[in-house]
Amino acid sequence: MASKLKLFWMLPISCLLLSNCLHTRGNADPQVPCYFIFGDSLSDNGNNNNLKTLAKVNYRPYGIDFPEGPAGRFSNGRNMQDVIVELLGFQKYIPPFARANGRSILKGVNYASGSAGIRDESGAQLGARIPLNKQLKNHKIIISRITQILRNDTSTRKLLNQCIYSVQIGSNDYINNYFVPEVYNTSRQYSPEQYAAVLVEQYSQQIKVLYGHGARKFALYGLGLIGCIPFVISAHGTNGSLCVEKLNNAATLFNARLMPLVKELNTNLTDAKFTYVNPSPSPQDALSFVTNSTCCKVGGGGGELCVRNSDPCSDRSRYVFWDGVHPTDAWNELVAQSAYRTNSTNEAHPFNIQTLAKLK
Ligand SMILES: *[C@@H]1O[C@H](CO)[C@@H](O)[C@H](O)[C@H]1NC(C)=O
Ligand SMILES: *[C@@H]1O[C@H](CO)[C@@H](O)[C@H](O)[C@H]1NC(C)=O
Ligand SMILES: *[C@@H]1O[C@H](CO)[C@@H](O)[C@H](O)[C@H]1NC(C)=O
Ligand SMILES: *[C@@H]1O[C@H](CO)[C@@H](O)[C@H](O)[C@H]1NC(C)=O
Ligand SMILES: *[C@@H]1O[C@H](CO)[C@@H](O)[C@H](O)[C@H]1NC(C)=O
Ligand SMILES: *[C@@H]1O[C@H](CO)[C@@H](O)[C@H](O)[C@H]1NC(C)=O
Repeated sequence: MASKLKLFWMLPISCLLLSNCLHTRGNADPQVPCYFIFGDSLSDNGNNNNLKTLAKVNYRPYGIDFPEGPAGRFSNGRNMQDVIVELLGFQKYIPPFARANGRSILKGVNYASGSAGIRDESGAQLGARIPLNKQLKNHKIIISRITQILRNDTSTRKLLNQCIYSVQIGSNDYINNYFVPEVYNTSRQYSPEQYAAVLVEQYSQQIKVLYGHGARKFALYGLGLIGCIPFVISAHGTNGSLCVEKLNNAATLFNARLMPLVKELNTNLTDAKFTYVNPSPSPQDALSFVTNSTCCKVGGGGGELCVRNSDPCSDRSRYVFWDGVHPTDAWNELVAQSAYRTNSTNEAHPFNIQTLAKLK
């Protein structure tokens, strides 16, 4: 199973020699002045800590490899966005909206929330969360705080135009909505094709709201192979396949609509740049990873998270999955390296994040 499953991750190449790609932190300015993050648990860095939800991870062993310990990242260490923030040359990680204060917000804010979706109801069975619509409202609050700090609408606008806006969301609209028919009606209302269309249409409106708030550089992430997530496999069964085909197929339909949306947005909104990012790593590096088990003992949260205070595996850098859903720091490093510098248009289209940062 392990070797076959690895084929799923064997997607085009990026950084061959990881050692050449590692970022050394200096004192130079970051490549963009600010970085705003929207999304779900793949990007959340503490926004759910004080919410009433099963989808929060401010407990050990989360953060076992992170300087601050269990700060609310769904990982043993960094999440993918943390790594991209390092690669862009920021000296500090982007603060979560829940704790962002003072002048730090001039460098960006992370609004992402575990279990959140494009649709407001997605993830509701797990408890409170901050759906994308609410994240956009929180961004408006931050913009007015930035305007107060800068005391000038023109300079606020100028700053907002230069930031990168990262949006990685949609998994929960499937895993914690469409494929939970006991709780949600969407699978009775829509075929997978219709659902992808409805989701991407709503997403398109939300991205335009962000554009309306002055965003001009967007990285929009496709869905990964959600049918290969251990928790999804245990919940749905694979019927003899490697992964849960219906979930992977649904994700493919979503991506197949998101890619042309990115193209259209680039055509229609000529003063903005959009890029589509496929969240996958370099296959060369992926070969040595364990894919058929999770590093920590799962059973926490809604059954997919690490058991509180459990002892995780010791060779964490070898695992794809930290818990039943989320990747390890090591895997996030590979995926982020790819997103940042890949030259493969299958991985980032029309440009990688490094190029997006440089564009005027
Ligand atoms: C995972 O794959 C490895 C290598 O193929 C195998 O030795 C191991 O037993 C598998 N583990 C599980 C839990 O299936
Ligand atoms: C991508 O292309 C640029 C310019 O041709 C080159 O400098 C860089 O090394 C390439 N990156 C990778 C990861 O192959
Ligand atoms: C606001 O900043 C712009 C330059 O960004 C400057 O030209 C303008 O005079 C400033 N306005 C005020 C009221 O300070
Ligand atoms: C979903 O379906 C149930 C009955 O099957 C109904 O009571 C409920 O109102 C529906 N919810 C939505 C959001 O349509
Ligand atoms: C399981 O696989 C068999 C054989 O490929 C197929 O006939 C059947 O429809 C599948 N069942 C489900 C629930 O997908
Ligand atoms: C782009 O513009 C065309 C022509 O006006 C329009 O039909 C289409 O809906 C627009 N696409 C988006 C994503 O706004």
